[in-house]
Amino acid sequence: MLFVLENQRSVGNQFMAELRDRSIQQDRMRFRKNLERLGSIMAYEISKNLSYGTREIETPLAKKDVTVIKEEPVLITILRAGIPYFNGFQHFFDRADCGFIGAYRKEDSESLKIKLDYVATPDLEGRDVILIDPMLATGFSVVEALTALKGKGHPRHIFIACVIAAKDGIGFLQKNIKTDHSIWAVSVDDKLNQQLYIVPGLGDAGDLSFGDKIG
Ligand code: URA
Repeated sequence: MLFVLENQRSVGNQFMAELRDRSIQQDRMRFRKNLERLGSIMAYEISKNLSYGTREIETPLAKKDVTVIKEEPVLITILRAGIPYFNGFQHFFDRADCGFIGAYRKEDSESLKIKLDYVATPDLEGRDVILIDPMLATGFSVVEALTALKGKGHPRHIFIACVIAAKDGIGFLQKNIKTDHSIWAVSVDDKLNQQLYIVPGLGDAGDLSFGDKIG
């Protein structure tokens, strides 16, 4: 299942446009804020697919049966670019267990390899997991991350949440992920350039959020 927020008319499209616009995206605080706002909107969309139960509460005037989430999903993000989008999810799933994966691109002469150097998550057995990676380019980092999570228990469902998903990356995930999953993107772009950046995309989400890195 592929959900694309941009297929609907909403204020989310405005936030997405500002992320892409080179004259606006240089405002680092605004860039992070727009990622965060889209994270909250996507959390709301995904929340429609979680399990709910009823609970009796007491208002100052009477008792009332209310609908509540049975169990909050586990939020896992890929560092460092995922942090602002992840923060938006945390605003809506405020008691969620969280996990973090450190991943970086290692380009050797022949190919692009993803290196993972930090994996810290709670037990995922039977849980709904939202894997938060804003830029789904090749899909390699998501597949590597899910491979690294294999020893942590079998999730009930994995929601893969991105901001921009390239068609190649979507195809790669659909081919390579065998567990129950769905893909949630704000926008879908047609292609990757030679450096495997998404085109038209928005540039480097990590650098725009936090500044250039060396090494
Ligand atoms: N990561 C980014 O930040 N941008 C891309 O276009 C691809 C991966």
